[in-house]
Amino acid sequence: ANIGIVIPAAGQGKRMGAGYNKQFLMLMEKPILAHTVRLFEESDFVSEIVIVGAEGDISVIKELVYYQEFHKVAAVCIGGVLRQDSVRAGVRALSPTIQRIVVHDGARPLLTLQAFHKFLEESREYSAAIMGVPIKDTVKRVDIAGKVLDTLPRDYLRAVQTPQIFDREILEEAHQQAASAGYYGTDDASLLEWMGHPVQMVEGMQENIKVTTPEDLLLAERILTQRR
Ligand code: CTP
Ligand code: MG
Repeated sequence: ANIGIVIPAAGQGKRMGAGYNKQFLMLMEKPILAHTVRLFEESDFVSEIVIVGAEGDISVIKELVYYQEFHKVAAVCIGGVLRQDSVRAGVRALSPTIQRIVVHDGARPLLTLQAFHKFLEESREYSAAIMGVPIKDTVKRVDIAGKVLDTLPRDYLRAVQTPQIFDREILEEAHQQAASAGYYGTDDASLLEWMGHPVQMVEGMQENIKVTTPEDLLLAERILTQRR
């Protein structure tokens, strides 16, 4: 197939506290970002990958692409202050022939090829679909003072991950409209929701964590060790 991948990797990794972009931290002898890109490099459904990095990280990312021999990486482009700006820049850098786009966080190195292909299969008939998993904890709403207001029905709650897949036309329109309205969402799907466009939830995998804090890195290492 002819799917284009946008990998936002332009964050600062503040919560990781490494002092540099967490995606260059080593995970089983390879930078986190190398694991993430490898999966798409190996998928036959993917024809092109764009990595979005912070301005100061561009040359390091290009070196990583070179040494890891990622032939599908068509561009490494400069991101923005917020993730949404970074994704927008990445979408713009994809070849015009790409009509279907997957956005996947650079900081999610544990997605498997099997789970990704299942996601592609299950999202095929939707112009927008996202991966998510049932919530394990009970979720309550509170007011500003911490007083509990109510308990949300867990059956209808999902923790949202990436990958998220979109028809290019829809995703570009959403980013365009959000930019001109100054609207910022926490993921790409929220821009479509904001426009009133339907988004389908597809069951993901609990292991597909976002490496955010040092504990997550330890967990990621344990999971990868187990897979070997
Ligand atoms: N990201 C990005 N551009 C930004 C902010 C984030 O491309 N301006 C990317 C990150 O590199 C990451 C993904 O979006 O792969 C999810 O963001 P997050 O986990 O929050 O990463 P950081 O923003 O780097 O971490 P923190 O919020 O702790 O600083
Ligand atoms: Mg962040």
